[in-house]
Amino acid sequence: MTKTPNLKIALITGLTGQDGSYLAEILLKKGYVVHGIIRRASTFNTARINHLYQDPHNRNRKLFLHYGDLADAGTIRKIIYKVKPDEIYNLGAQSHVKVSFEIPEYTMDITGNGALRILEAIRDFQNETKKKVKFYQASSSEMFGSAPPPQNENTPLVPQSPYGAAKVFACNMTKLYREAYGIFAVNGILFNHESERRGETFVTRKITRGIARIKAGLDKKLYLGNLDAKRDWGYAPEYMEAAWLMMQKPKPNDYVIGTGETHTVREFVELAFKEAGLSNWKKYVETDPRYYRPAEVNILIADTRKAKKILKWHPKTKFKNLVKIMVWNDINELKK
Ligand code: NAP
Ligand code: GDD
Repeated sequence: MTKTPNLKIALITGLTGQDGSYLAEILLKKGYVVHGIIRRASTFNTARINHLYQDPHNRNRKLFLHYGDLADAGTIRKIIYKVKPDEIYNLGAQSHVKVSFEIPEYTMDITGNGALRILEAIRDFQNETKKKVKFYQASSSEMFGSAPPPQNENTPLVPQSPYGAAKVFACNMTKLYREAYGIFAVNGILFNHESERRGETFVTRKITRGIARIKAGLDKKLYLGNLDAKRDWGYAPEYMEAAWLMMQKPKPNDYVIGTGETHTVREFVELAFKEAGLSNWKKYVETDPRYYRPAEVNILIADTRKAKKILKWHPKTKFKNLVKIMVWNDINELKK
């Protein structure tokens, strides 16, 4: 592999996900060489990064893809030793909360143990090569669970799902490896962040896609679960800028990232239907118990004073604008 001197090297797990694709864009723009771990699938899973793809024959390319899986410690280790990254961003996960109740053991293995596998590889790599590697863990507001809002870096973690519990494990391991081994390891505790690239089964995108299909006459109804849950929703690209900022500080630390505003799922639905020109949302939306969870996180509100003070990070996209961006993206996508 050709290594251009003086360029920072980043390794991203979860490159093909919503956040991975935005982070890769940000890092490439900043002049990084970016390596990403992707899973082998029988269908293409690279839709979110196709616009970044560079021909392997291009000698100046800055984006490299490696097959791997967070379940496979040997391959993760091999990639780290080969790439010699300056920064590792662990964004890979079984990231769906409802699904985690159906596949709890798998979720723990990937979302929890996956982080530990990387930390162990970093520990050995640093010991052997003396090269420092920084580690970012994609921690989550889902870890707060039933802890009352507003939630910040000192709020107790009371997870309400196997996913939340797996993220708590990974978060604790990240702190432990920082304290025990002096590894530059940070937790970005991110509240819900959405975008045009959001996975189609998360509630915001399910709503905006559903609206586009109803507007186009393809569907008559949109079936949802708990409309009373409250979330602090922000815009994903801004959150990946915050992740990068955390990795540039002289000392590793944990930071909460969110907007500080909360809205119910019902409010999202109402605003999104209105934006699309469908005034009476109740005509189209039905609740279906299959989308309820065995346990729920009722309310999330970020207290981001630390990030504002130390990272100088501020959210820009307001709730109303986020809804607008997502609704029109899906309406226009369907027209295409
Ligand atoms: P996402 O769209 O679901 O992307 C998850 C990524 O992980 C995908 O690239 C996926 O690959 C990869 N992945 C899944 N299983 C894997 C495995 N066994 N080995 C290697 N990679 C695997 O999630 P996201 O919204 O971008 O979120 C990024 C990270 O932040 C996740 O860890 C998530 O839990 C966390 N987080 C997200 C939010 C949010 O609101 N978005 C908030 C807090 C924390 P495929 O494309 O092949 O499926
Ligand atoms: N997915 C989904 N589908 N959620 C629904 C539905 C539905 O049909 N109807 C209501 N909801 C409610 C859920 O019960 C939950 O309270 C809320 O909408 C948000 O659900 P999701 O969009 O699936 O997100 P999440 O909050 O459970 O998890 C997301 O945010 C976490 C950060 O707090 C994911 O991105 C996680 O990976 C992330 O860590």
